[in-house]
Amino acid sequence: MNPITNHVGTSAPAKIILFGEHFVVYNKPAILASIDKRVHVDVSVRNDNKIVIKSNMGFGGSFDEKKRKQLQTKSFKSLVQPILLAVTDTMEEFNASVGLDLNIRSEFPYGVGLGSSAACSVAIIAAVGTLFGKLNRKKICNISLNAEKLVHRNPSGADSAICSYGGLILFNKNNNMKSINSDIDLELIVINSGIKRTTGKLVSNVKQKFERDADMFMDLANTSENITIQALKAIKDKDYDELGALMTLNHSLLYKLGVSKNILDKLVEIALHNGALGAKITGGGGGGCIIVLTNKHFKNKIMKEMKGYETFVSKVERDGVIIK
Ligand code: MEV
Repeated sequence: MNPITNHVGTSAPAKIILFGEHFVVYNKPAILASIDKRVHVDVSVRNDNKIVIKSNMGFGGSFDEKKRKQLQTKSFKSLVQPILLAVTDTMEEFNASVGLDLNIRSEFPYGVGLGSSAACSVAIIAAVGTLFGKLNRKKICNISLNAEKLVHRNPSGADSAICSYGGLILFNKNNNMKSINSDIDLELIVINSGIKRTTGKLVSNVKQKFERDADMFMDLANTSENITIQALKAIKDKDYDELGALMTLNHSLLYKLGVSKNILDKLVEIALHNGALGAKITGGGGGGCIIVLTNKHFKNKIMKEMKGYETFVSKVERDGVIIK
């Protein structure tokens, strides 16, 4: 198929996991939100068959067919690989094969639990798909799972869902996802520990834990499910205190699961000591970011205490992937 247009711009949001990370891989529910930081993608058709990637995320390059095939056989090292996979999977969907210039600009760091790989692939699939026709959110989300497998090894699909649909969602690997209709106004602070890690490795470590002691693991997983169900009620009731307490409880569960780190526990403690309603790891853990639920009164105090760490205030973003 030939392109119907030569240039498309899209964007997709960063995500946070409010409740249920890791256990979501084992069919337990999770609550996710998209936040007001985005990955922007511009794609243009080239005259040759190269895919040329430029980004502000420290990766890029020019890839002809031979180079692309070579990269396909290698294990995950760089975001370039899932990006190329997302591009070729999308073109296959339309029976197309053209050269492309891809410009990727992210407003948030990658490798710190904010869903950069999912946001990149979702925005890219929407952009490349729109060159040839139309893809709905469900299709975009499904195509991105292949690229996510490279990064997360055994992804639940939660990151792809939130980056595609946006807002606040209840995600379950089996029953897919539901939007949470609530006008709750979450005052969130994201704090980056600065420690980069790969989610795939953490997901594999958790799998080993599951294989070593399935009973203990399922106890933790059932507790995570209970916390998530209570959190859903707290969101619907707009009970901020309860929601914060449940976030902190979720953090202790992730600590028991072994995906926390001293520095993450310390950041959680500083936030709570300075008036936060709740705080926890977000995403795979092992480094990356924590999220803090606060209110207007304590926001500045908490941010001031996080000296030396990248810190930003976030709101829940309603829009998932958009075509500009
Ligand atoms: C990563 O953002 C979230 C995990 O639960 C993995 C997944 O759901 O695929 C750790």
